[in-house]
Amino acid sequence: MTGREEAVLPPAGGGAVPMAAALEVRGVSKTFGATVALADASFRVAPGEVHALLGENGAGKSTMVKLLSGLIMPDSGEIELYGARVSLHTPAEAHRHGVQTAFQELTLVRDLTVTDNMLMPRAPRGPLGQLRRRQGEELVAAHLAALDLAAIDPRAEVQELELAARQKIEIARALFRRPRILLLDEPTSTLAGRDIDWLGGQIAALRAEGVTIVFITHRLREVRRFCDRLTVLRNGQSIGTAEVAEIADDEVIRMIIGRSLASTFPSRPALPPAGRVLLRAENLAAPGKLRQAGFALHEGEILGIAGLQGMGQQELFLACFGMAALREGRIFVDQREVMLASPRDAIRKRIGISLVPQDRKTEGLFLKLAGRFNVSLPVAHRFAQLGVIDTAAETKAVAHALAQVEVHPRALYTPAGAFSGGNQQKLVIAKWLLAESRILLLFDPTRGVDVGTKHQIYLLMRGFADAGGAILFHSTEIPEIVNMCDRVLVMYEGRMVGEFAGAAIEEEGIMRAALGESEVARKAAE
Ligand SMILES: Nc1ncnc2c1ncn2[C@@H]1O[C@H](COP(=O)(O)OP(=O)(O)O)[C@@H](O)[C@H]1O
Ligand SMILES: [Mg+2]
Repeated sequence: MTGREEAVLPPAGGGAVPMAAALEVRGVSKTFGATVALADASFRVAPGEVHALLGENGAGKSTMVKLLSGLIMPDSGEIELYGARVSLHTPAEAHRHGVQTAFQELTLVRDLTVTDNMLMPRAPRGPLGQLRRRQGEELVAAHLAALDLAAIDPRAEVQELELAARQKIEIARALFRRPRILLLDEPTSTLAGRDIDWLGGQIAALRAEGVTIVFITHRLREVRRFCDRLTVLRNGQSIGTAEVAEIADDEVIRMIIGRSLASTFPSRPALPPAGRVLLRAENLAAPGKLRQAGFALHEGEILGIAGLQGMGQQELFLACFGMAALREGRIFVDQREVMLASPRDAIRKRIGISLVPQDRKTEGLFLKLAGRFNVSLPVAHRFAQLGVIDTAAETKAVAHALAQVEVHPRALYTPAGAFSGGNQQKLVIAKWLLAESRILLLFDPTRGVDVGTKHQIYLLMRGFADAGGAILFHSTEIPEIVNMCDRVLVMYEGRMVGEFAGAAIEEEGIMRAALGESEVARKAAE
């Protein structure tokens, strides 16, 4: 079949791509065992262009990025950089061609410092190590300052940093090596608000210098703000390329999911559910994080916790899962006070609290273990008789939970790490469905999840609440909070500053409260 790429890729907006493309992928395929990650996919990016690569979770975007980064080799197909055919066997070869990548799974080494990560693999050693370490730190500090990241300490260990800061370091490390071609794999799924503006600023500056950028995101808003053209992948195939300015959102969504999306959010009950209080927190205080925070969560209710990043939401969720050091505060389940010293206390049957954390890669799943173990982990004892696990019963129960979240049964035997972001998130949810939790703490559960999977997660949430469960829900996307919650509490500097229910739940009011407007008014009145 000749002229195939012409068929797959209609020329963008009538104007031909000038001269040699900075990056051209022609008909690449890649399979992992039985999974076809890329099937004859093609796309091309002009020099100096910012090109969005879009597609549902599992569409093959990260696989494409890994091929271009020299981490894996295609089974067939060709890659050209600036008109020359290349064969990228190792990351070092990709680096030699000027390709640098900020990976989706954040490849920083957690127990090394920012400086060591940045300089790797050339971290200073030997007798002159001390001196060179200081030089290295100065170099890295200057680099961070140039990127407006002076607030990040070059000597901090990566694991001490918040997820957003780690993401920014992952990007800063790629920039440290002066790329001609920069690949950004879903950087904004860990960023919000001002950090996204920061990234937009960096992209604009790099574009002005002629750097070619491939940018993966699930947010069309960012495609519109940052990108010149877009290419959509679906099931490993390239569906098409378009000029951002010339295509409507609906059309992009249709390309991504292969159909149009009538309504994303399930309908909610007209009146907030008024069942018993299942979970109540009073006066939670943690130095610098929580100041007398509290809430009551009812049976059947989805209670939203809104707020800008770092206003205490994370500590609030961790506290309810036995993972935060509180100075004061009490937590009640079914009106009885409980002591939550660890997650083990929280998941006990008569308490029944589960957490879907922000960083599922490191907190929610064991990536090397098969889906079966990950899903059955909290309840493994239930399948044990005289210390021996009844594998058949366990497999059956896990298969049922996987079916509920619509994950392919092959997840039973495949390592969790081999699944796309959305499917990993569904594994985490399957785990808590199997555990028969009554109270779900969902911290940004749709972060980095494609539209189709998001919709499924929304349905699961509403179904769980309708069945009498209760959900405490935080999202960085305000429309999710507005459309999913029966009631919303807004946090500002460690405490609740606003409450919205029913029809009063709307974006603007929540944003005003999140920005601390009522606090400013209160202080002014004092
Ligand atoms: N190392 C791997 N082993 C097995 N399957 C994989 C591996 N990496 C990716 N896959 C599979 O390939 C498909 C594409 O994944 P990926 O490129 O990560 O998608 P995306 O980044 O678009 O979400 C998915 O079905 C995923 O499960
Ligand atoms: Mg990906």
